[in-house]
Amino acid sequence: MNITALVGSIRKDSYNMQLAKTMQERYSDKLNINIADIGSLPFFAQDEEHNPPQIVQYFKDSIKNADGVLIVTPEYNWSVPGVLKNALDWTSRVDKVLIGKPVMVVGVTPGTAGTLRAQLHLRQILSAPGIQANVLAPGGNEVLINFAGQKFDGGKLADKDTLEFLDNKVKAFVDFVESF
Ligand code: FNR
Repeated sequence: MNITALVGSIRKDSYNMQLAKTMQERYSDKLNINIADIGSLPFFAQDEEHNPPQIVQYFKDSIKNADGVLIVTPEYNWSVPGVLKNALDWTSRVDKVLIGKPVMVVGVTPGTAGTLRAQLHLRQILSAPGIQANVLAPGGNEVLINFAGQKFDGGKLADKDTLEFLDNKVKAFVDFVESF
């Protein structure tokens, strides 16, 4: 199953990127996760939406051709980082590549709330008319990883309980994608 991943942090040692890479490796038997380089996308410009830079069209096509999308996001000021919102804005115009696409949302923070407010905000964004993604239902399927400093080691998510929890949520996502 081909999955395009959007990671909302371009920080060198990003926990969210570490989480995306952990998932890429751990679930490689089921998921072929391709991490999109959203940090290289230019700012969304409405004047260019019908003839976007090649890198933007490549990004949009990677979503169009994927079976599902994984969004891995930090929380910035109770919302999603601009780099992620910018990527989502590109997807929302002309060929609206996220419409109907199965999406899983996960996030990690060093603090207590595990990106809860960012994810609530993200689900609202993903419901917008130009996006209308099919997001894995939140009831029981939220992945809110807190206290990152205690759970990551050697560039990976290492906490056993969190990994087992994640295994179950990824299984739910695989079933969800297969149901389409
Ligand atoms: C943060 N951070 C943060 N954390 C949080 O739990 N809620 C928040 O609202 C914010 N706001 C915020 C704003 C800005 C501009 C920065 C730089 C940081 C802390 C954030 O969770 C922490 O820096 C993470 O490590 C960022 O994720 P990555 O880069 O590790 O993936």
